[in-house]
Amino acid sequence: MIQIAILGFGTVGTGVAKVVAENARQIERKLGEPLQVKTILVRHFKDGPFRQLMTDDFKRIEEDGDIRVVVEAIGGVEAAYEYTKRALSAGKHVVTANKQLVAEKGCELLSLAKKKNVNYLFEASVGGGIPILHPLTQCMAANRIDEVYGILNGTTNYILTRMVRTGAFFSDALREAQAKGYAEADPTADVEGIDAGRKICILADLAFGHQVNPENVPMEGVSRLSLRDVKVAQRAGYRVKLLGRAVRMPGGGCTAYVAPHLIPEESPLASVEDVFNAVMLRGNATGEVMFYGRGAGEMPTASACVADVMEALQSSPRREEIGWSADDSGFEDPLELQTRYYFRIEGSLTDAAMAFGQVEVLSEDGETAFLTDLITGRDALRQSKSLNILSCMRVLA
Ligand code: HSE
Repeated sequence: MIQIAILGFGTVGTGVAKVVAENARQIERKLGEPLQVKTILVRHFKDGPFRQLMTDDFKRIEEDGDIRVVVEAIGGVEAAYEYTKRALSAGKHVVTANKQLVAEKGCELLSLAKKKNVNYLFEASVGGGIPILHPLTQCMAANRIDEVYGILNGTTNYILTRMVRTGAFFSDALREAQAKGYAEADPTADVEGIDAGRKICILADLAFGHQVNPENVPMEGVSRLSLRDVKVAQRAGYRVKLLGRAVRMPGGGCTAYVAPHLIPEESPLASVEDVFNAVMLRGNATGEVMFYGRGAGEMPTASACVADVMEALQSSPRREEIGWSADDSGFEDPLELQTRYYFRIEGSLTDAAMAFGQVEVLSEDGETAFLTDLITGRDALRQSKSLNILSCMRVLA
């Protein structure tokens, strides 16, 4: 019998306990022994089938030699960071879906895990149930990864889909996403692009091999997005999606950011809807590879966590290929990237042409919506200074 503990019993923790119970036979067949949740750390005891396993004393887990894997499902940094360090120091594998902790402290926790000869695995921290970190670090290992981008937040993708398809109000769509267990405890992290920002940092850390600090990454969410832009874009053959993007720069550095983009409707990302996420990896040998699936929710996220539990137990002694250097000096401003830009201005086509030369007009009805040619973000800012800008977004090439 292999025993594990779960820290926290919210959406992810509950899902992990359910997957371990519901898929017990299948998991046992693969591990060769039954897997059992022995202890669950909670702040407040809850009635239900798992009540007997609950404790509010972390020491009972830390000092229990029978517990080999700890699933950290607390979220946030403070307590999660402390307990993760203590569990790893006690020689236990740790598995998590906590993107904030991995994005901020992952490098340090991975070196502690290495020192203690155990695994720190976090497949569920990016893309919910989509296998993406394993493919990135294993299946794509023979590539130089030049770019990673995609729809990385299920809550905002769900909100955008509901608003476009049914004309739902932003606040109603957000409430639905919360009720379905997609949103963070504080949904500001979803809505303002911070959750997607943490995920693109983790992807960039692994893809480029050095630390990309969330505090350096510009993050813009969907809270200021206007339905008018969504409609103008749609009429012109584009969809509006919140993308996280990380790019290897020509000089050897890299950049990353999160922002809403116009996506041509023929791009596979354009049809990614509801809670679904999609991540594109561009390797120098493979070209583009796309990963698609449910990016949030109890059971998809738990599936990735439990797979990591099994992986931790089966990797002997530990997985070595996951990690990156703490050096964060190669980060460049994403304004250096070239892309086409969408503008909606209070002004005429002549105003647009005076600022940018030739532009592609999307709509003209008092306001003017247009696309520029390829241009750096810095030039787009400089050249648009004289315009009365109502909105501005990058366009996915
Ligand atoms: N709040 C996150 C999302 C959960 O909506 O994508 C999964 O990381």
